[in-house]
Order: sequence, then structure tokens, then C-alpha cells
Amino acid sequence: MTGASSGIGAAFARALAARGHPLLLVARSTEALAELAGELDVDVRVLVADLTTAEGLARVEAELGGVDLLVNNAGSATYGELGEQDPADLDESVLLNVLAPTRLTAAALRSMPAGSGILNVSSTAAGRDDPAIAAYAAGKSYLETLSRAARPEAGEHGIRVTVVRPGRTATAFHERSGEESGHLPAWRWQSPDTVAEAALDALERGEEEVTVAPGDGHERR
Ligand SMILES: NC(=O)c1ccc[n+]([C@@H]2O[C@H](COP(=O)([O-])OP(=O)(O)OC[C@H]3O[C@@H](n4cnc5c(N)ncnc54)[C@H](OP(=O)(O)O)[C@@H]3O)[C@@H](O)[C@H]2O)c1
Repeated sequence: MTGASSGIGAAFARALAARGHPLLLVARSTEALAELAGELDVDVRVLVADLTTAEGLARVEAELGGVDLLVNNAGSATYGELGEQDPADLDESVLLNVLAPTRLTAAALRSMPAGSGILNVSSTAAGRDDPAIAAYAAGKSYLETLSRAARPEAGEHGIRVTVVRPGRTATAFHERSGEESGHLPAWRWQSPDTVAEAALDALERGEEEVTVAPGDGHERR
């Protein structure tokens, strides 16, 4: 589980633990990961790694032989027009959204056992031509194409590849990206728990793609 320290990733960790899965939690924030690990009632290991570095990626890749579900969830965005972006922020976001899931998906195909799954977290923004999130939308579009194209090879290894496409979800993501979204009404938002539960349900049903957006009926009452 990458990006497990907050938001949708932490919700995935809680939902998987409730379903009895042992977990390997990956992110950079040591304290948040330790706190989450402490609250979960299954075997949990924490791997502090920066997925924008070759060293961080290699350490996660090395673990994949012992994992039966890879959730490529870590992601970030830089809000604003492309030419206005700080180049270092842009690099970090592209490395995290594009290079990291590519490398981890490839490593998973080499090393995960038959019967495993890969869950790639895209977005309803994938492929959207919105000038405020150009690199992010293009990166998620790439991830969806990669996932579809890798399916035949994954199938030969007995590995399923599922894409979840969340709509606007109440996490730190928007503030971190620089988007001002506090004024949006409650109905525009869904909870990270809704995304995690609906994605895991879809995975269990063997669905290849699932969109989980506010108001589409996935919210649990
Ligand atoms: N929130 C939404 O509305 C929404 C909608 C559609 C799709 N998504 C997607 O959902 C996924 C999760 O986002 P979220 O909303 O839960 O955002 P979030 O709360 O900001 O979580 C992002 C996660 O990624 C991790 N991360 C960031 N940079 C990293 C790095 N360099 N190395 C390793 N981990 C890193 C963060 O942990 P550390 O900072 O501790 O490293 C954190 O755990 C992303 O792929 C996002 O694109 C979100």
C-alpha cells in the first residue's frame, strides 16, 4: 500500500485490515505510519520510502515477492497553469504519479505470486483537458493506459490489474496541491472510506475498472 500515511491510502489500510489482510504500509511520514500501524489489528510492517527516489523505489520493489496486493495509491498534484509551476514540484509530482506506479507495476509482474492483484489509483480527472491540472490529468491518463496494456501480460502470471477512479474526495490532497476548494459544498465531496470500500468490493468482484464519485451511490449510510 503506497501513500498509506493519509487520506485514501490510510482508508485502504483500515479497510484491508478489517478484511483480515496483513499490510505493508509505504510513505515518507514515519510518525503517521507508526500511528496507523498501531491502530490496526493485523500484522503490519512499515516501510518509510520516498517513491520519487531510485533508492526508495528499489526498497519497495524488493518487497513485492511477499505481497499479494499492490495498491499504487501515492499521488500528488500541482494546481495551476503548467508554465507557472515550480519545476521541482512538477518533477516530484510526475515522478510520483507516473514513474513510481510504472516501476512498481513492472516489478509486481516479475515477482508477485499467481492469484495476486494490482490496484492502480487513477482519478476522474484522467484525460481531462483542464489547464489547472494538466500534468496530473495526463499522468492519471497514462496510468490507466499502462494498466490496460499490462493486463494480458498480468493475466499470463495470474495477476489481476484493477483501476479505481475516485472523484473529489475529502483528503489533504487538494490543500497540498494548492487548489482552493474549501468553498465547495458538501455534496461535491465523498469520504476516503467510501473510495476504499468500493474499490475493494470491485476488486473482489473481479471488475477491471471502477469509478467512485460523489453522489453515484457508493456512499454507505
Ligand atoms: N482526494 C481526491 O479528491 C482524489 C481524487 C482522485 C484521485 N485521487 C488519488 O488518490 C491517491 C491518494 O490521494 P489522497 O487524496 O489520499 O491524498 P493525500 O492525503 O495527500 O495522500 C497522498 C499520499 O501519498 C504519499 N506520498 C506523497 N508523496 C510521496 C512520496 N514522494 N513518496 C511516497 N509517498 C508519497 C503521502 O504520504 P507522505 O507525505 O507521508 O509521503 C500520502 O500518504 C492519489 O493517487 C490521488 O491522485 C485523489
